[in-house]
Amino acid sequence: MKFSFSILAASLIGFSCGYIPINDSVQLGFDVWLQKMQDKCIGNNLKYGFILDASSISSGAYHDIDVLSRNNLVTIAGAIGPVTGIRGEFPDGPSISTGIYKDATTGVTVYDAANFNSGTQWSSVYSTMGADVIVFDIQDVGSRFYPRLWTLYDALVGAALSGKKIIVLDRPNPIGGLVVDGETLSPGFESQFGKAPIAIQHGMTIGELALLFNEEYLNKDSQLSNSANKRARLEVVKMKGWTRDMFFDQTGLNWFTPSEYIPTPDTPLFYPGQGLFSDINISDGRGTTIPFEVFGDSDIKDLILQDLEWAMNAVQVPGVIYRQMYFTPWDSKFLNTACAGLEIHIQDRSVYKPVSSAIASLTVLRDQFPSKYTNIPNSVDLRYGNSNLRTMLASGASYQSIIDSYQSNLEAFKNVRSKYLLY
Ligand SMILES: *[C@@H]1O[C@H](CO)[C@@H](O)[C@H](O)[C@H]1NC(C)=O
Ligand SMILES: *[C@@H]1O[C@H](CO)[C@@H](O)[C@H](O)[C@H]1NC(C)=O
Repeated sequence: MKFSFSILAASLIGFSCGYIPINDSVQLGFDVWLQKMQDKCIGNNLKYGFILDASSISSGAYHDIDVLSRNNLVTIAGAIGPVTGIRGEFPDGPSISTGIYKDATTGVTVYDAANFNSGTQWSSVYSTMGADVIVFDIQDVGSRFYPRLWTLYDALVGAALSGKKIIVLDRPNPIGGLVVDGETLSPGFESQFGKAPIAIQHGMTIGELALLFNEEYLNKDSQLSNSANKRARLEVVKMKGWTRDMFFDQTGLNWFTPSEYIPTPDTPLFYPGQGLFSDINISDGRGTTIPFEVFGDSDIKDLILQDLEWAMNAVQVPGVIYRQMYFTPWDSKFLNTACAGLEIHIQDRSVYKPVSSAIASLTVLRDQFPSKYTNIPNSVDLRYGNSNLRTMLASGASYQSIIDSYQSNLEAFKNVRSKYLLY
């Protein structure tokens, strides 16, 4: 009796399984998927394993795992945390010898994937947790070198190896889906910062990237050379209401800091360019309230700073001006050291290209301070995608010639990319 009453109630009231999205302007893949599960309401005997981090927040502003464990729509086999726990609750990663712990709030079993570096490890954790279906829901920030993209890639390889279905719940690209810029990753430069030949600013959503990886690159991955499956059984759940011209603040969604250095929905706009400064001896603004929006060092001040400011603005990078700023980082490079440099002021974000802006900055810094910025470290190559930026800077190449050097790779990427756009 009780059983049939709840079916009746569900069909009459429509939300008896307890899930109501707060703002319906853009609906995340998570919300669309959960609505679909709610419409089925009961009768689904599958066990689901979730890949989540601190950014796995539903439109209703609750963490996915809390929504899932409270409404009982699906059976949770377990969750996998790619770096600092599924809620970001372990700043340095969970140091648990077994790699398995219970989420303190929900009791869900969590598997730590911080040290995973192959699809085999993902495949075996899917089996260990006894999941029938894997669900990935992590917010991307729009840069190729953001490591969570490659968590997705490895999770797909694992799904192909295990033969299990994987569902990717789509989320907005916070910097929109129109601008595509930067060098693509060349063979031989694969690392945690990139495993497939996409541009630095890819202009795709996480769901589109899942389709691209699965169709174009997994079958070329040596990890699958002896596997019967050359791709994963993938389903992407699209968002509702998202369009490519939207920046995050236009989605009606709340921003949740996916990483401590990406505090606001504006930070991702700078990151594809200024993230390249990570390996260079220059402050990239981490340890200020505006990480990646300012750069500089302790030798720059006064007249030198004014020269730098004028030289940067003379390049006329589209959509942006540079303004002098004195700052003292409390964290990261140049810790507690008085620095000066330039704050990047975006004037028109629809034409601003962060990668081009960073290249302009590096050519101007090299010309103003040749002894310090002519030879930048090799490690920059992994984020850039190959050695061209470094070698061209060293040989005195101009801003425009470095931009020109990646256009043919970029065009090739855009052609492949266009097949996987969902919006
Ligand atoms: C959803 O968000 C948009 C944009 O912030 C806002 O205009 C709209 O009123 C919100 N809708 C609801 C139902 O809160
Ligand atoms: C980094 O730059 C600062 C300022 O020019 C300099 O004092 C320091 O020695 C440099 N560090 C390295 C490792 O090159």
